[in-house]
Amino acid sequence: MRAPALLSLLSFGLLAACDAAPGRTDRLFSADGRTIAFSGGAGGAANACFTCHGLEGQGDGAAAPRLAGLEAGYLQKQMEDYAAGLRPDDQMQRIAKALDQDGRRAVAAYYAALPAPKAGAAAPPPALYLHGDSKAGIMSCAACHGRDGEGAGAAGPALAAQPYAYTVEQIERWRAGERRNDPRGVMAAAVKSLSDEQTRAIALWLSKQPASPRPANASASVSASVEAAARPAASRETRRPDRSGGV
Ligand code: HEC
Ligand code: HEC
Repeated sequence: MRAPALLSLLSFGLLAACDAAPGRTDRLFSADGRTIAFSGGAGGAANACFTCHGLEGQGDGAAAPRLAGLEAGYLQKQMEDYAAGLRPDDQMQRIAKALDQDGRRAVAAYYAALPAPKAGAAAPPPALYLHGDSKAGIMSCAACHGRDGEGAGAAGPALAAQPYAYTVEQIERWRAGERRNDPRGVMAAAVKSLSDEQTRAIALWLSKQPASPRPANASASVSASVEAAARPAASRETRRPDRSGGV
């Protein structure tokens, strides 16, 4: 716990050094981010995020996930991972590469600040999601993603209200060793023993969970997001060279 926390502080310091006034900078970033979301930025209209991720960042209900209300740090890390080729996806790699780092950060900040979409009533979590199955080597998803899939900060992103097909695909990509951008291989280890049926059941439940509302104090959450944006840089240091490493 200690060493990564220290690393994040260090890398946050590096990022923060460029941000003399984080509050103001964030608002500017978010305005730029909106432009990118609707115009596609340097990559042109074919890259406009809203065409696949929805006018309100709610996702397309199938392959393109919701972005609205996810943590800025998580979104930014995904954009960097696509751009660096660490997370495989032909479309998103091309789109992320067409933006510079400021653009990727701006568009991440824009979507993080959008309100999470409203969804139906919550259903209780499946036991496997809550507790895992230690005999079968399945870890508790709730431990890192929150009891209702609302996310748990640096431990794991929000999964609630993501399209069913998207979540199934991500889990399958981890099981196949295709998506490998999780810090220290935590996700690969967590889902390696899930069966197809268990994957589908958890993904279906998650897709119907309401997204958690934004914290009441918006400005506090923005600076928390900036701080969170620094964290993935630290986890990059510990990215395993191959799949043999466990948790
Ligand atoms: C042509 C359709 C399309 C466009 C345009 C598009 N995306 Fe995506 N996006 C996708 C798909 C499909 C995925 C799922 C890819 C995967 O499985 O990794 C995705 C995934 C993502 C993710 C990962 C989210 C998560 O929960 O891990 C982020 C972040 C993202 N897109 C941001 C953007 C941004 C920002 C833009 C605009 C600059 C954009 N996308 C434009 C289709 C698109
Ligand atoms: C030890 C912590 C940990 C555990 C346990 C864990 N996860 Fe994760 N999970 C993560 C992290 C961290 C990420 C983000 C990785 C990255 O940066 O791309 C993630 C990402 C995901 C994603 C992709 C989200 C997106 O928007 O693309 C899915 C889906 C997911 N986890 C499902 C599960 C399920 C299902 C379980 C239980 C079987 C589980 N996780 C257990 C830490 C964990």
